[in-house]
Formats: sequence, C-alpha cells, structure tokens
Amino acid sequence: MESGTRINKFAGAHNFPKFVQEGAAMYHELRKVGTKLTDDIRTWVLGIETTCDETAAAVVERRSDGAGRILSNIVHSQTEEHAIYGGVVPEIAARAHVDLLDGIVERAMKDAGIGFAQLSAVAAAAGPGLIGGVIVGLTTAKAIAMVHDTPLIAVNHLEAHALTPRLTCALAFPYCLFLASGGHTQIVAVIGVGQYVRLGTTVDDAIGEAFDKVAKMLGLPYPGGPEVERAARGGDAARFTLPRPMLGRDDANFSLSGLKTAVRNEAARLTPAEPQDIRDLCASFQAAVLESTADRLAVGLRLFEARFGPPRALVAAGGVAANQAIRGALQDVAAQAETTLIIPPPALCTDNGAMIAWAGAERLALGLTDTMEAPPRARWLLDATAAAPEGYVNTRAGF
Ligand code: KG4
Ligand code: ZN
Repeated sequence: MESGTRINKFAGAHNFPKFVQEGAAMYHELRKVGTKLTDDIRTWVLGIETTCDETAAAVVERRSDGAGRILSNIVHSQTEEHAIYGGVVPEIAARAHVDLLDGIVERAMKDAGIGFAQLSAVAAAAGPGLIGGVIVGLTTAKAIAMVHDTPLIAVNHLEAHALTPRLTCALAFPYCLFLASGGHTQIVAVIGVGQYVRLGTTVDDAIGEAFDKVAKMLGLPYPGGPEVERAARGGDAARFTLPRPMLGRDDANFSLSGLKTAVRNEAARLTPAEPQDIRDLCASFQAAVLESTADRLAVGLRLFEARFGPPRALVAAGGVAANQAIRGALQDVAAQAETTLIIPPPALCTDNGAMIAWAGAERLALGLTDTMEAPPRARWLLDATAAAPEGYVNTRAGF
C-alpha cells in the first residue's frame, strides 16, 4: 500500500527543513498549472461515529482528484443492548460506546493496515445526537489527535450523510438530498462542502421515528423500520384507508404524526390483531409514507430547480433510505424530474464510521480543521439559517 501524504501538515511550513519547504512550494506551483502530480496526493482519515446506537469507526482514503476508497469500516449496532426497552436508552448507549469504542477503533486501524502516525486527520461526529454518546466519540478523537499530533475534524453527522454519495460515486455539486433517518427528515440543496440550504423538513416526527413507533404499537421488535418493511411485504396496502399527510401543498415539508395516530386508531380496533392484520396495517402505513414522500420530494425538486438550476442528482441518505419500497418510489420521482437517483448501499445509509471519515476528508481537503475546543452538540443545524416552517414554530420538531 502506498503511503498517505499528510498535506495538512505543510500548512505552517516555516518549521520544516529547507528541502521540504522547497518541495511544498514546488507542489503549489505545479498545482497552479494543473499537473497530474496532484493525483498522487492521498489523505487517510479515521472517522468515529457514536451519535446514537451505532458504535463505529472507519478509515477512508481521499485522493486529490476527489476519488474515495474505504480502507476499513467497523460498525457495532447496539441492538441487543436496547432491544428489551423497545428503543434507544441514551445512558445505556453512552456506556456501551465507552466500553466498545477503543476496540472498534483498533480493529478499524488494523483492517486498514495503517498506523496512527500515518493518519492525515481524525474525524468524529460532534453532533447532532445523544449528547452522552457524542461526548464519548469526540473525546476519543481529541485524544488520538493530541497524542499523534494529527488534525481534528468535528463533523456534523447530517453533513456526513449528505456527502456519502461523493464517496461512493464521485458525484459533483449541486445535488438535492433527501435525508430520512430516525431523527431527521429533510430535503436539502447540497451546494458544496459546508454549504447547505434546507428546502423542506418535518414539522413533527421524522420518518424513521414514525416507522419505529408504528412497529412498537404493533408489537414488532426493535429496531422497527426494517421490521415494518418486512411485514409490509406480505400485506395488503389497500386494506386500510390512511391519510396522505401534506399531499398537494406547495411547500416541501413533511408531517408524520397524524398518520401515526391513524395507524394507532386502526390498531386499537383490531384486538386481538392477527399476524395478517399487522402485515396489512404495515403495508397500508408504508404506502401512505411513500405517497406523501413522493409528493413532498417532487415539490422539493421543483424548489431546487427554481433556485439552483437542475440538480446533478436526487440523493437519498439516512437509515430510511435502506427501505427497498422507498427506493422504488424515489426512482419514479427522479425520473419524473428528469434527474438521476443515487442511493448509497444500505450499509452506508445507516450510521457508520466511513461517512464520518469521508466528511472529514472532504473538509480536510479544504483546510477546514477544528481545535480541541470543538464542542459536542446535541443539536446542530445543517443549514444554520433555516427557520421553523411558518405556523409550526412551537412544535417539538427538531428543525
Ligand atoms: O441514519 P440512521 O441509521 O440513524 C439516525 O441517524 O437516526 O437511521 C435509523 C432510522 C431508524 O428510525 C430506523 O427504523 C430507520 O432508520 N430504518 C428504516 C429501515 N432501516 C432503517 N426505516 C424503514 N425501512 C427500513 N428498511
Ligand atoms: Zn444518521
């Protein structure tokens, strides 16, 4: 394996021997004339993810032409730790991160076949997320950065989801992102690294959250999203008439809580609910989510085009993008908007370390590193200028 080049370390070149300074100066000159030499510069970044119930670490490589490669990607899902509670218990998650993270980082480095001294930077998700877990990951990254004198990058977890398609298929900006996870449902114009404009958001529950809650009310095991999808496969989507929230509105916002309540009401009438009832209800719920999502995204893509011109692609990211039925529905939306649909492989849609490492590598390439003061954040908007949708200022949604 070729050795990674720690380009970031040349930033303060005055302390280096003369031949290194001259080499750095020559490199910058050659960059100006666009030489192919830059293609040989590689950065290796360790990424740490602990914002929810995945303890994950990965090493990715980024070449200066923007191409990415995953060298290792270790994910431990704390499903077993939380299953008996039917959802993530923040304190248990934080303690599990403490117990697991060191070993997972060690495995990620071993699988990548490199030592800490060869890293160009260490990145950690610094939020948004469950604050106990965020503190564990960020503090670990700070310790590694300090001990190995390597730059630290405090990554926004949502930005990491947003940039993942650039790791998997070298997508150019700008593109339209549909981010659907357990905590967020947003349509975002991705203009560049660190440049995001939110076009739509949920005014109450996130889509993943709605899947999880529906699973719980129907007695399906945790985590609920994949269970609802599985049950829906054997169900009749036409059996229950459920609302299609926000359908036909000219903004691109989502609402899930009314649909969730409608499912609860139907479930209450089915006592005892037979397995086929549950499959039918899951299928009806998923069909309603799909129809509402397709409508909201069609509007989002129109808003995107009006402000930024045609997007290079419609990208879906976040755990919900692992849902095969949603993938199918998005295909139609993209085709109607005459754009390409890009969805990273399921393992890169759900939380993982590679997406954090990649966002770190993208930021490092722009010189965007952080100090030891970088704070852990429970809330962290991707678009700092985004306000709550009109009429929904006092709801509990995490805009
Ligand atoms: O992005 P993610 O791994 O973590 C968060 O940042 O939230 O997303 C997890 C969410 C959970 O709510 C989970 O139920 C949902 O994504 N999810 C799914 C599927 N797989 C995961 N929802 C529907 N269908 C799926 N196949
Ligand atoms: Zn996520």
